[in-house]
Amino acid sequence: MIVQRPPLGWNSWNTFGHNISETMIREMADAMVETGLRDAGYEYLVIDDCWSLHERDENGRLVADPEKFPSGMKAVSDYVHSKGLKFGMYSCDGTLTCARYPSSFDYEFIDAATFAEWGVDFLKYDNCNRPVNYPGRLLYKRMGLALANCGRDILFSACNWGVDNSPEWIKETGAHMWRSTGDIVDNWDSIKNLTLAQLPLLKTNGQGCFNDMDMLVVGMGGKGNVGFGGCTLEEYRTHFSIWSFFGSPLMIGCDIRNMSDEIKAILLNKEVLAVNQDAAYRQPFEISTVHWGGELAWSVWGKFLENGDVALACFNLSDNNTNPCLAMADLGLGGRSGKALKIRDLWSGEELGVFKDQFVIDVAAHGCRMFRGQVVDA
Ligand code: GLA
Repeated sequence: MIVQRPPLGWNSWNTFGHNISETMIREMADAMVETGLRDAGYEYLVIDDCWSLHERDENGRLVADPEKFPSGMKAVSDYVHSKGLKFGMYSCDGTLTCARYPSSFDYEFIDAATFAEWGVDFLKYDNCNRPVNYPGRLLYKRMGLALANCGRDILFSACNWGVDNSPEWIKETGAHMWRSTGDIVDNWDSIKNLTLAQLPLLKTNGQGCFNDMDMLVVGMGGKGNVGFGGCTLEEYRTHFSIWSFFGSPLMIGCDIRNMSDEIKAILLNKEVLAVNQDAAYRQPFEISTVHWGGELAWSVWGKFLENGDVALACFNLSDNNTNPCLAMADLGLGGRSGKALKIRDLWSGEELGVFKDQFVIDVAAHGCRMFRGQVVDA
């Protein structure tokens, strides 16, 4: 199985934690369709940790908790598929999951067979409670091989938080995406810290195995399992823009049954999603960066798209408004090129005009701007 674009979907952890049920998952599947998320490309619906009983059955197989999932996992999976979605589940490379449920260490082939039987299309694979003599480098390969031989295409989402030098070896394991950062929580500091942690890892991102900056907190509003403080609407827009521009998988974490129109407008912005899903999947590059007090304050980014357009973004991590100036010369435009950039604002939808020499970008504190530029005659 080869994965060409960053996977998009929804995951239960951020809002629900252990408080998951068949009813809630079915409602989420319905909501993915009714809100238009499915049609915008969000296709995976993933049940995270805490779905099983605390004991395996007499054949060593994982058992879905019958109180939470009375119809069994195959029925839940069938329902998710009936909505035109793909079904994701969770396990871990240690002896217990992070929330201390049975985990897949030494059961990799048995569990991969169970997931295949249940019609699972995506496995998030965590990194807690590993026996000390078994490095992640080995354990992720064991599950990668088990999944590749289970008889079903299952996307392997490795969740080892970027530790143990994983950028060096994660692509050996068969992972299609890998958590390149620690856990997100719903506040601005977390978004800022994950962004900064991602910068040195951007060069390792690429088609086939995407850097996963962790699930989105957009729309959580400080509520739910990781709702520690919440963010402003502008901060959620910045978070979504950074994750999109950096080519991260986008796994929604809020309760999509009750999203405000403003939150829907963020998650369903087709032009921003198109930058994330661009077929060429090129690395973003930093055009200019300013540090204040030793910390990154804001930076302007470019990304060459498949059709020759240029995506541009400015992320302002600082507490002050700013207005950086982008020199077209930094893109090889203006001057003797005879070419300029026709720029469209991807958040307001406005056509801003044709820019030959420079482009000044106003960005609010904690804000972002995102644009798409078409190369035209000057
Ligand atoms: C780890 C992962 C989270 C979540 C929890 C579940 O912390 O990084 O994304 O899956 O475990 O226990």
